[in-house]
Amino acid sequence: MAQRSPAVVTVTGAAGSIGYAALFRIAAGEMMGPDTPIHLRLLEIPSGMAAAEGTAMELEDSAFPLLRSIEILDDPRQGFDGTDVALLIGSRPRSKGMERGDLLAANGQIFTVQGRAINEGAADGVRVLVVGNPANTNALVAARNAPDVPADRFTALTRLDHNRAIAQLAKRSGAPVDDISRVSIWGNHSSTQYPDIFHARVGGKSGASFAQDRVWLVDDFIPTVARRGSAIIEARGASSAASAANGAIDHVHDWVLGTPDNDWTSVALSSPGAYGIPEGLVSSFPARSIDGSWRIVEGLAIDGFSRKRIDASVAELESERDSVRSMGFI
Ligand code: NAD
Ligand code: LMR
Repeated sequence: MAQRSPAVVTVTGAAGSIGYAALFRIAAGEMMGPDTPIHLRLLEIPSGMAAAEGTAMELEDSAFPLLRSIEILDDPRQGFDGTDVALLIGSRPRSKGMERGDLLAANGQIFTVQGRAINEGAADGVRVLVVGNPANTNALVAARNAPDVPADRFTALTRLDHNRAIAQLAKRSGAPVDDISRVSIWGNHSSTQYPDIFHARVGGKSGASFAQDRVWLVDDFIPTVARRGSAIIEARGASSAASAANGAIDHVHDWVLGTPDNDWTSVALSSPGAYGIPEGLVSSFPARSIDGSWRIVEGLAIDGFSRKRIDASVAELESERDSVRSMGFI
């Protein structure tokens, strides 16, 4: 098969847990496809540079055929120079005694700097995926600080939530994961998100037939998916890493190479006002990737049950947006 042009992939937080779980799979070609050589940029803060060097040594020792170069940097301008795909994973975690506003402020600063650096130097077709929390609002801050890059190139990760919803539906129905399609995550990557199965296909059945069991839907399915991140933190003592890396790889893979026919995925992207979600908010939608661009799935019927839950998550996004606006980040 003819090789495509190499892609410059920048990963921030490269020395962290998600970075470690993602980098080897990216270098193996699982994200950009088996015929795209990769130039990897590992972007860290000074305290993470030594660990990133160690990861780079292991990447080198893996002798991945597609891996053309590895650079380790702590300067965002150098890190994003010519970048085709940016995975913004590194962010300030919530520490003891830190309020939500403090977290938004610390991350607002990081994503302002990174948005500007992407604006200045990234490749024309750059694709950005924000993983670091609060992911939707961090993506909003980065996008607003990159006015020359089309807003639809900035996305945030809800593919992990999408995959979690598929897994729970598979457990409930007994259908294998690959018989489940058209699940949708709406809103924020937080416990207010709304995993929607009304339009899903589960083997030969409609997701709506499973949604008829409202006790299961309301008391089990929705909270299990929406609070899975917290449940993992409680069990592992650290937030999800390998599954988050997997979701990030799935997201970029489908963005670049397309979503499967007859299915869609979930992506947090700048709202064009679809489904009554205010324009410019970075909200999760059901979406397909067509010719390398995300297209929101249009025309889905949203009943009162779903509307109420979408609106609650969107209200949280509006409040996060208002906070970062009042702090001067957007
Ligand atoms: P981690 O603490 O293991 O690693 C984070 C790394 O980021 C560290 O190495 C740190 O030095 C680096 N970093 C911090 N600020 C940086 C900056 N300005 N530039 C570059 N690097 C920087 O954390 P992790 O487990 O890898 O998680 C990373 C983030 O992903 C967290 O915010 C976590 O909450 C989030 N997360 C999101 C999802 C999702 O689905 N969206 C899922 C899981 C985790
Ligand atoms: C997850 O969904 O696993 C994470 O976003 C949880 C977190 O707070 O890091």
